[in-house]
Amino acid sequence: MLPRGGRYDRGAIAFHWTTAALVLVNLFLGLFHESLLEGIRVIPTHKAIGATVLVLSLGRLGWRLTHRPPHFPENMKAAEKALAKAVHWLFYALLIALPLTGWMFTSNPARPRPVSWFGLFDLPLLPMTRDIAVTAHDVHEALGLLMAGLVVLHVAAALRHHFLLRDRVLARMLPWAARNG
Ligand code: HEM
Ligand code: HEM
Repeated sequence: MLPRGGRYDRGAIAFHWTTAALVLVNLFLGLFHESLLEGIRVIPTHKAIGATVLVLSLGRLGWRLTHRPPHFPENMKAAEKALAKAVHWLFYALLIALPLTGWMFTSNPARPRPVSWFGLFDLPLLPMTRDIAVTAHDVHEALGLLMAGLVVLHVAAALRHHFLLRDRVLARMLPWAARNG
């Protein structure tokens, strides 16, 4: 039997885990390209993955706005529900703002570096001034760090629900739990 409040539908689950995997890889490539990964050309892959995340996230947002998520467990405190909701919506905003600021600063007219989608085609450069592109660079780095911090919080919350509170919050986002439902 599935839970009070039901579970996420297959579309939401597919979008969630595809995006999560791509974002985790991109955070790793972005944060470590100048240290651990020095000497390996990872930025072209980072940019192509980021462009994929942008398209997927627009689709995901459309899905989210037309499909209801399950209710939170009844015993969750109002403040916890509000925090979870805030983090989820902040994720949606970051999933669009991060690739967009990346695309903006690589479109800097003083040093344009087009985004190649895995060598198959190039994205057009965005119309950009030098100043906006420089700001977009700083914003991209700050939002990247914010995203990394929120992912730690989000994963800790999911594990707390699963192992300490022992509710179905994590299970209802897992594909195999959905199949059994
Ligand atoms: C999910 C999407 C993305 C995430 C999570 C992400 C995250 C990050 C992070 C965390 C950094 C390291 C920032 C730092 O140095 O502290 C970074 C750097 C960078 N990102 Fe992204 N990014 C994404 C999409 C993109 C896109 C779409 C582009 C370009 C079209 C892009 C271009 C770059 C470049 C060129 C750097 C290196 C900047 C530098 O070292 O000066 N990113 N990104
Ligand atoms: C790394 C990037 C990740 C991003 C950007 C992300 C984003 C999101 C978003 C936006 C939602 C809200 C879905 C909605 O209601 O529309 C969500 C839900 C959820 N995520 Fe993630 N997630 C990530 C990784 C993970 C990981 C690694 C786990 C597990 C350890 C996880 C577990 C969950 C769970 C259990 C929910 C459902 C929460 C609930 O039922 O209220 N997520 N995630």
